[in-house]
Amino acid sequence: MRVAVTGGAGFIGSHLVDAFLACGDEVMVIDDLSSGRVDRLNLDTVTLHQVSVTDAQAVTDLVTTFTPEVICHLAAQISVRHSVADPAADAATNVMGTVNVLAATAKANARVVFASTGGAMYGDSVMLPATEDLPPGTEAPYGVSKYCAEQYLALFNRLHGSTHVALRLSNVYGPRQDPHGEAGVVAVFCDQAAHDDQPTIYGDGEQTRDYVFVGDVVEAFLAAVRYPGDGVFNVGTGIETSVLDLLDAVSAATGRHLEPRFAPLRTGEVHRSALDPTRAAATLGWKATTTLRDGIRTTYEALTRPAGHSGPNSGSRHSTERYPVPNSAGASGVQPSTESTAIATKTSAR
Ligand SMILES: NC(=O)c1ccc[n+]([C@@H]2O[C@H](COP(=O)([O-])OP(=O)(O)OC[C@H]3O[C@@H](n4cnc5c(N)ncnc54)[C@H](O)[C@@H]3O)[C@@H](O)[C@H]2O)c1
Repeated sequence: MRVAVTGGAGFIGSHLVDAFLACGDEVMVIDDLSSGRVDRLNLDTVTLHQVSVTDAQAVTDLVTTFTPEVICHLAAQISVRHSVADPAADAATNVMGTVNVLAATAKANARVVFASTGGAMYGDSVMLPATEDLPPGTEAPYGVSKYCAEQYLALFNRLHGSTHVALRLSNVYGPRQDPHGEAGVVAVFCDQAAHDDQPTIYGDGEQTRDYVFVGDVVEAFLAAVRYPGDGVFNVGTGIETSVLDLLDAVSAATGRHLEPRFAPLRTGEVHRSALDPTRAAATLGWKATTTLRDGIRTTYEALTRPAGHSGPNSGSRHSTERYPVPNSAGASGVQPSTESTAIATKTSAR
């Protein structure tokens, strides 16, 4: 199968790329490398195009040339705080970028599996765990842009008879997540445990999230690719974990005592969040299987592994054990273009 992964140099996207390669699929990555990293990919087995999904013509050209059967669309502006500070930039990437991917896909007759949000979709006023049928109650532009993108998916399905799928991910964690980014509190706590740094908790620490391991999320994407229909599916565990409990879990898994300092709560964040995964279990046959304790341990081990062992073939116990990348998948490397020059420069600088 030919698969395109937008955002494939990102945290989740790069694990997904490994999984497709392990299945023997031919993979093309579209990523502007704004937060993605080339060293998460094996350029011997995957073709990377440093292109923004906001560039409609470039996306159309790539999709119509590669003719993928499936496009997993993960490229996005992912920061809730940035979306509050600059909602137009958030919408440009998350709404217009998705419209561009859908328009290109319609021409190539491919399916889209879209990485939406569950954590930022439902707001605070709902019964938990939240089901997909609840009306959106987003507290930030990021949630609005993801919901808007979902609506475009549904519209394209009605207009073109396609079967695009949206996966509403809860809080994803695991190896390769940037500990210096905003989204990954597990990665942040693990990094602080490794360096004996004091963690900061925003608010009272009683706010809850539904933490799902990246290997389980990859399995959800694979299940959605196999599923012949369309729809919207929560991808979470259904379990609420408070930030204070998460800190305890990281302390237990790493053997490091972490004493937090507290800071004011940040704008745009919901207080409680958990996703009901019943629909994904019944329809896609998917269920998260990694316990928080095992997932944290795997994340910490990957983070503290000696330098030089963080690439695509060793960054995650789950990604390497579940998705061993073949030595030669037959796919070409970076295309000879101006983009490849930029990529080569970035690679050698690391
Ligand atoms: N990590 C989570 O907890 C979580 C939760 C819910 C939804 N999601 C969604 O999952 C997807 C992947 O998230 P992630 O955590 O791996 O983030 P990430 O930042 O690691 O990955 C996003 C990737 O998209 C690329 N990108 C950003 N803007 C782009 C553009 N205009 N054109 C092309 N590429 C662009 C980045 O360079 C990066 O490689 C996103 O769509 C995100 O909204 C993530």
